[in-house]
Amino acid sequence: MTVPADGCPGAAADGHRLTDLRRFADARGNLAVIECGREVRFPVRRVYYMYGAGAGSARGAHAHRKLHQLIVAMQGSFEISLDNGRGRCVHRLDEPTRGLYLGPMVWRDMAEFSADSICFVLASECYDDADYIRDYESFLQELRG
Ligand code: TYD
Repeated sequence: MTVPADGCPGAAADGHRLTDLRRFADARGNLAVIECGREVRFPVRRVYYMYGAGAGSARGAHAHRKLHQLIVAMQGSFEISLDNGRGRCVHRLDEPTRGLYLGPMVWRDMAEFSADSICFVLASECYDDADYIRDYESFLQELRG
């Protein structure tokens, strides 16, 4: 399946959504807001961020059983490939005012990190290794129930 780098083919990969964050710009610069109940509809129990990406590095390669997340390229850019078992798409995140919401059971692969990238993630739960599915075939099996 050929996937456009700038979006999704139709609604093939539900379980995710691009969200524009509120931005307040004035002579001092920009201020962007992520507020529970507005930009995110889940309680934020954890924040983490990835930075200092090495050349050619790849991350992700997993899905979550229950976790909701909002991912923002706070600086620089990276690509995130999504797969919900029925369709795939690729998004390039490169704006600090664009959030990518990911719901449960969406396989994600991340690559093409710029050296200056900061991948900022809001998550609905504390870290729980048992929430991860790291084997793609197991992911498909769990989807089929
Ligand atoms: P990992 O899950 O490999 O990151 P990704 O799949 O997004 O590339 O996480 C790397 C390490 O960090 C791993 O030892 C688990 C740990 N970690 C935490 O302790 N807490 C967290 O919230 C996250 C996301 C990872």
